[in-house]
Amino acid sequence: MACPFAKPNRLFEDLATTRQQSTLPFSKELGGYVVSRYDDIVSVLDQPNIFSSRPTVPEFPPPVKGIFANKVPEKGTLLAHDNPDHDRLRKSVASFFVPRRLRRFEPLLRATAHDLIDQFSSKGEVEIKEAFALPLPLRTIVHVAGLDPERWQWIGQSLALFGGITRVDATVSIEEKVRDVLDLHEYIAQVIEERRNDRRDDLISHIWNERDAGNVEMTDFEHLSMIPGLLLAGHETTTNVLSMGIAHLLHLGLFDEVTKDEISRAAAIEELLRYESAITGMPRKVLEATSISGTTLVPGDQLFVAYNSGSRDDTKFPDPNRIDTKRGRKVQHLGFGRGVHACLGAPLARLLLNVELAVLKERLPNLKLKTPYHEIQYHRVHEGRGVAGVTLEWDSTRATKASSDGSSRSVTRPRVPAQPQDMDLIVEEANLVADDVLQFKLRSQDGNHLPEWAPGAHIDVKAGPFGYRQYSICSDPDDRKCLSFAVLKETSGLGGSKYLHSKVRPGSMLSIRAPRNNFSYEPSRKKTIFIAGGIGITPILPMATDARRSGMSYAIVYLGRSRRNMAFLGRLEKEHGNHLTVWAKDDNDGHRYDLNVLFADEHIDDLRVYCCGPEPLLTGLQDILSDAPPGALRIEHFSNPTASLNATNTAFEVVLARSNRTFQIPESRSLLEVINEAGAGILSTCNKGLCGTCEVSVIDGVPDHRDMVLTAEEKMDGKLIMPCVSRCRGTKLTLDL
Ligand code: FES
Repeated sequence: MACPFAKPNRLFEDLATTRQQSTLPFSKELGGYVVSRYDDIVSVLDQPNIFSSRPTVPEFPPPVKGIFANKVPEKGTLLAHDNPDHDRLRKSVASFFVPRRLRRFEPLLRATAHDLIDQFSSKGEVEIKEAFALPLPLRTIVHVAGLDPERWQWIGQSLALFGGITRVDATVSIEEKVRDVLDLHEYIAQVIEERRNDRRDDLISHIWNERDAGNVEMTDFEHLSMIPGLLLAGHETTTNVLSMGIAHLLHLGLFDEVTKDEISRAAAIEELLRYESAITGMPRKVLEATSISGTTLVPGDQLFVAYNSGSRDDTKFPDPNRIDTKRGRKVQHLGFGRGVHACLGAPLARLLLNVELAVLKERLPNLKLKTPYHEIQYHRVHEGRGVAGVTLEWDSTRATKASSDGSSRSVTRPRVPAQPQDMDLIVEEANLVADDVLQFKLRSQDGNHLPEWAPGAHIDVKAGPFGYRQYSICSDPDDRKCLSFAVLKETSGLGGSKYLHSKVRPGSMLSIRAPRNNFSYEPSRKKTIFIAGGIGITPILPMATDARRSGMSYAIVYLGRSRRNMAFLGRLEKEHGNHLTVWAKDDNDGHRYDLNVLFADEHIDDLRVYCCGPEPLLTGLQDILSDAPPGALRIEHFSNPTASLNATNTAFEVVLARSNRTFQIPESRSLLEVINEAGAGILSTCNKGLCGTCEVSVIDGVPDHRDMVLTAEEKMDGKLIMPCVSRCRGTKLTLDL
């Protein structure tokens, strides 16, 4: 077949013809089968184990390969990695690109947009791509990465050479390309080294923080490999979508309407991303024999997956060649791809496009297309298209000066400590308080008071090379000179608890971070019931001590497998006497404690319940107290919040609180699918819990987190959920929708 990307001006007509073919057409120019139908594309992107991403980045030609060895990463960023490396490396940046967190860069984006418009607003016309749509995302991504914003032009040129290192280019010799690409990588490596001990609010520092916390294992060379590809992807896509999108909006007379507020802009941006596709497509290599649309594929076959075609598939999008900013989100467009390789920078691109449209509208009155729409020339950009140039005009006599938010232009990069409030404390005692449970008591080296904390608080403790682990404080809350915590040796854990058990002795130094509290406790006039399962007793200890001293009505229920495994039993029995109920399974013929009995004669309105323990205990309690008013039941997870990444699904109920509607989520469907079908309109990009786009607030219920975006603390907190993958640990979840 003729390559459907050969004629950019009629790209989408040719892709429509490709979609009509009964089997996958083979393109000699693309070196593989072209996957162009929506469902086929989704099937490829959702099976990364069968369709490898390795061919995404072409190999360096032989003479260059030797020069670049150990200096320029051949695989480039994440695109060309399959699992397990892909997920391991993506983890180091996933939590940086969460939309909620990227909002902090909005003042910088606005200031840069105003700076650029200042340079041409009085002229009355401009070619928008070169003057605005290209420099804004490039300057932004350079700053966000942590590089010097003053060097954005050089970085942009070097990236273009890097992207085209395998292309023959009459204007730049291969020697020049090699020198520039090496310079760029040396510069990035130097900044990475500087950030090792001087962290800032940028991507390079974020990766260091994740490495230090033990959340990701990577080499310095892999750290370097993350940056250039992200810089490249971080500006090219947005540049093309804005340049073409603004031409479409002005031509159709939609510009004023869609720029009137943030929500309208966001809806228009999604439609432009569908219509033009930020990422046009990617190659894949078949790893296992399979078939798609009647075409038999064998290992080694190459595919070209045309995302831009899928988003114009009329079986999914009615009237797909019409820009309709009121389209809902029942079907996800493929403008940023989907699956494990969905565009990492999609949230930043969305934020950029929203700010760009807002500032153009604000600064350039009566904006119009000067280049006649039908004369706009498209040129080929990879396997998609961009515009050669689009000139806009406006009423320069009415052009406004930068608004007050634009005056805050000198946005500086805040310096942040490597990790806030790290401190080294001395281990005064390490005592075995049950089988495999070691209690550590820490004091400051000079005997001074330690930071304040309240019952329920935890500290991050550095477990040597395994990074930081979180442990509840179990000291006496009135003793300001001692911090104590207990560690259960987890034989199947990642190694942190084993390290603390085997390496830390009295006299050792331990690094900790200041106490934080996600399990807040308040003394109450209501009867307070503390329920602990196993090592979950640790946060309960200081709470119960406080309850006893306050003279409150309280009870403790302590559950465990065997008394030998139950830490602090002696202390609890001595301090709390009749207030304490102990239930060891092996003393009760292997039976579990029946929590229903505990609440048989109580009304939840008259109670405060605190519980910490394994997940079955927490979800069982939640089900029993499903009618508890807000705040009556407080729980703390102590198991690994991502432990259920590969768990099997169970059905549950979801309540959308704002519209007071209830839906059943069957085992076979994702929460996101069901609520979007019902019109919730939640944006999504990866559908794999990797990008943070679909984040929703949780009002009630315990999420079963299966994403890689939320921090361990956010997961413990349970106030947010990624509905594309995450589910419910109990039977009901209430969302703020
Ligand atoms: Fe990416 Fe849900 S869509 S995390």
